Amino acid sequence: KRLVPLFAGLPLLLSACGREDLSVLRPQGTVAEGQLGLIKLSVTIMVAVMVIVFAIAAYVWIKYRRRPGQNEVPKQVEGNFKLEIIWTAIPLVLVLILAVATVQKVFAYGEDYSKDKDAVKVKVTSHLFWWEFNYPDYGITTAQDLIIPTGKKIALELKTADVLHSFWVPSLAGKTDTNTDGTVNKAWLEADKEGVYLGKCAELCGPSHAFMEFKVKAVSDDSFKKWVDAMKAPAVLPEDPAVAEVFKKQCLTCHAVGDQGGPSGPNLTGIGGRESVASILLNEEGSGKPANSKPVKDNLVEWLQDPQKVKPGNKMPQPKEDLGLSDEEIDAIAQYLADYKLSY
Ligand code: CUA
Repeated sequence: KRLVPLFAGLPLLLSACGREDLSVLRPQGTVAEGQLGLIKLSVTIMVAVMVIVFAIAAYVWIKYRRRPGQNEVPKQVEGNFKLEIIWTAIPLVLVLILAVATVQKVFAYGEDYSKDKDAVKVKVTSHLFWWEFNYPDYGITTAQDLIIPTGKKIALELKTADVLHSFWVPSLAGKTDTNTDGTVNKAWLEADKEGVYLGKCAELCGPSHAFMEFKVKAVSDDSFKKWVDAMKAPAVLPEDPAVAEVFKKQCLTCHAVGDQGGPSGPNLTGIGGRESVASILLNEEGSGKPANSKPVKDNLVEWLQDPQKVKPGNKMPQPKEDLGLSDEEIDAIAQYLADYKLSY
């Protein structure tokens, strides 16, 4: 009886897994389509085995059931060479089918396309608790939103800056670990259509693992080129000189905007146009409305007031306690960042 509430809660728990943008059952690109193919193949084999085994069991239960007046012990059978061969051979064949299909895909999706002229190269670095995306061919670095052109192979090289994380975009590709031993994992993905695809860290990595999200934003080739140009444009700094001074002194030591600042924190260029800020999802796909019903600026103020409250365990200094920012300065910086959008 104690288990009843547990089972009653199960549908609720499972319904949380039903986020459309996080489903491997709705592939939006080549790799995810192939992976869904593997899921379908294994599920089909599993269901077929189950149906056949249960059918045979049911037949035997009914046919050889004890009938009224039947009191003697039935004939005892031990060993059957032919049957044993059959029930060894069938699973072997099934496992071989699964193995061949899986190994093929494992190699195909780990293929290195970085030498491919048409592919877009991206170096992915995972951090506690954010993602860095570097485009070596364009000399640009961004964070949290991976912007890609549709219909092109994106050749990924993945590593970590600290602990083990895993790169996963359910509707496009995944999962690929970012290892702590210095090895660089290769993977690729390709989006069929324009859209925003939700990505997740798929390896328990610390107190804010659950908030370690990112987005893949697939845009047209034309938009992608515009985005690259916008990223390379000179930095836009706060208009108010006093705010600009604080921003440069306290924020740009770690963060970068345009051609200014440091590399150790997430790059903030165009942050006002991102799909999420501090892993707070801003726009529900298609709705155009903030997912938490608050403007970007309010989310940024919340973050700057107390980053540890929003994302426990993150490496950012506390703006108020550690950096001595006032409420007015936080408000002004949040407003500046919210207005910092790139057009592409
Ligand atoms: Cu990074 Cu979980």
